[in-house]
Amino acid sequence: MEIGVYGGTFNPPHLGHVAAARAVFEVLKLDRLLLIPAGLPPHKNLPADGPTPEQRLEMTRLAADQLGLGDQVEVLDLEIHRRGKSFTADTLAVLKEQHPGDDFWLLMGTDMFLTLQAWHEPERILSLAGIAAFGRTEADTEELFSVQRDYLYRTYPQARLFTLTIPGVVDVSSTELRERLARGEGGALLPPAVYGYILRQGLYGTGADLKHLPLSRLRPVALSYLKYKRIPHVLGTEQEAIRLAERYGADVEKARVAALLHDCTKKLGMEEQLALCARYEISLDELERKALKLLHAKTGAAIARDVFGVDDEIYRAIWWHTTGHAGMTLLEKIMYLADYIEPTRDFPGVEELRRACYEDLDKGLLMGLEMTVREMEDMGNPVHRATLEARDALKG
Ligand SMILES: [Fe+2]
Ligand SMILES: [Fe+2]
Repeated sequence: MEIGVYGGTFNPPHLGHVAAARAVFEVLKLDRLLLIPAGLPPHKNLPADGPTPEQRLEMTRLAADQLGLGDQVEVLDLEIHRRGKSFTADTLAVLKEQHPGDDFWLLMGTDMFLTLQAWHEPERILSLAGIAAFGRTEADTEELFSVQRDYLYRTYPQARLFTLTIPGVVDVSSTELRERLARGEGGALLPPAVYGYILRQGLYGTGADLKHLPLSRLRPVALSYLKYKRIPHVLGTEQEAIRLAERYGADVEKARVAALLHDCTKKLGMEEQLALCARYEISLDELERKALKLLHAKTGAAIARDVFGVDDEIYRAIWWHTTGHAGMTLLEKIMYLADYIEPTRDFPGVEELRRACYEDLDKGLLMGLEMTVREMEDMGNPVHRATLEARDALKG
């Protein structure tokens, strides 16, 4: 296997990192990519008021997820948890021991490549991994690379070197980016989920008031809660919620907030869900205690209220979005159906359901509820009481 190793402080991981990682991954036809946030980087001192190592680790995980490479990319915490300074040679030695039969490529930007001989144990590094250096700016020309490449080949004849310029990549310096974030700018230079995490945690002096976020900032924050593959669904739900709210005269802004936050706890496992239920004193019936899918609606509503200060109407729209219930409000119906028919949904009957929803909201709702009941029964799953009650109430 060909394995890429990309270390750095990732403070924060930005679109420059993402683009470089993706380009090297493709050009070198790597099988795996390991992102390794540094604990104590040997060459720079981290500012004391910056993110904790764990927060950098989490941001790197969010950035990795945005690569869209699935299981092929992994974020390792081995440098974060190692005591003392993080030396690349030591990290590579550990990896080589874990994967003796595999080939390693160490990813690095121009600055690092040009000073490689000054690193701790360069010879050992070059014996353990090939070097994949990438130029990120227009100024990083092949000329600059070739002088250093010749020097390294002469000095370390066993070296494997690969250099590439990544055209059109956004040129971002982390230092400048941090300054811009403190001024309330720079979000566009980050993967949206990373920016959302920064706002959520108040990193780099962003100090956003989570309870009064404008939609433009709530969106990345909401995305930072999601698995990458769920992002199109949530953005689709927002779109559909806008359309339905406009069609039926509901509060469009509230529909959008509910849609953006409705699946904010969806990626959590059973244990974490139950912990949130305990923390927010959410009582569960017997079915809910076993059905992960039912819990995220309740814990999502609780987070939306506690962290983002949503009002009761939005809270209830999120709370009931999975089961529905008898006597739903307009916003609850819109949330339930937007989630059901948003543009990325594809199942037999979805077109018919979409038509019904725009013809008559209650007709659409009844159809949606009946489809759910049928589907659950076909799969031999129990149907939640609230869903049956919602259906029966609409049938009159
Ligand atoms: Fe959901
Ligand atoms: Fe959803």
